[in-house]
Amino acid sequence: MTDVLDEVRDHYRATGLTERLRMALAAFGPEDQRLTPQQLAALDQFHTRGLAATAELAELAGITAGMSVLDVGGGIGGPARFLAETRGCRVTGIDLSAPFVEAARYLTDRTGLGGRVSFETGSALALPFEDGQFDAVLLQHVAMNIADRMRLYRDIRRVLKTGGNFATFDVVELSGTQHFPVPWARTPATSSLLTEAATRAAIEAAGFRARHWRDDTEAAKGWIAQLRQSGPPASPNLGTVMGPDFAELAANLGRNLMEGRLGILMAVLEAVPANS
Ligand SMILES: C[S@@+](CC[C@H](N)C(=O)[O-])C[C@H]1O[C@@H](n2cnc3c(N)ncnc32)[C@H](O)[C@@H]1O
Repeated sequence: MTDVLDEVRDHYRATGLTERLRMALAAFGPEDQRLTPQQLAALDQFHTRGLAATAELAELAGITAGMSVLDVGGGIGGPARFLAETRGCRVTGIDLSAPFVEAARYLTDRTGLGGRVSFETGSALALPFEDGQFDAVLLQHVAMNIADRMRLYRDIRRVLKTGGNFATFDVVELSGTQHFPVPWARTPATSSLLTEAATRAAIEAAGFRARHWRDDTEAAKGWIAQLRQSGPPASPNLGTVMGPDFAELAANLGRNLMEGRLGILMAVLEAVPANS
């Protein structure tokens, strides 16, 4: 039987991604021309509401210059670069997909942010970092690929300093079944959704106390309605990363949100001492 982690990795395999990005980014200018995180937002912010959501999450989490931040399931690194540029922090991204990490390093080079942003390949379920190493941890649209939430949230708590903030932005199950494929899973086998209440219970049991807890579903629905009116963003966009069927995956996410099958949660929680 194929391991679910391998199936998730396959979903994000993106063969030839860096070369594809290199070619697509020629639209912005020559290879040696520095790009901004904002220019890349249509292709490297892989979650509902894109750059706006990352900016709001960073604000809620109080990320400031000098902090050391971990982005778990950092994708091709858009949130990490945006945080480093706008907040002045250092960011380490970790992701299961080797092609995504290679692309993240390439895009970071193109933005000149390599001094403050780095990436490694690895699993969110076995973070290769010291206890208490980070001031803040981000998890955006990743938990829905991970069935073992207790292990996920406990390892995040382990690498976070006591008092530090865990900022999470994820999809939650509302009712019934969902339309597939969706952006994080082509079949239900690799989709591990929880309700909002179960998500909160799992995170708090791992050693966190909520500072901000917000249902972001209406904002996500507004964003979907706007996309339906304006059509897909100009190329290059997430279709360049995920392949030609991405429009179908994104459309199903929209249907699931609009039909009340899925919701979106944005939350920031403080890491509390082990015995509290
Ligand atoms: C929808 S993308 C979100 C990427 C990024 N957080 C963003 O918002 O732009 C989900 C990411 O989670 C990563 N991922 C899924 N399961 C993972 C795991 N167990 N460990 C590390 N990364 C994982 C995938 O490889 C993918 O890059």
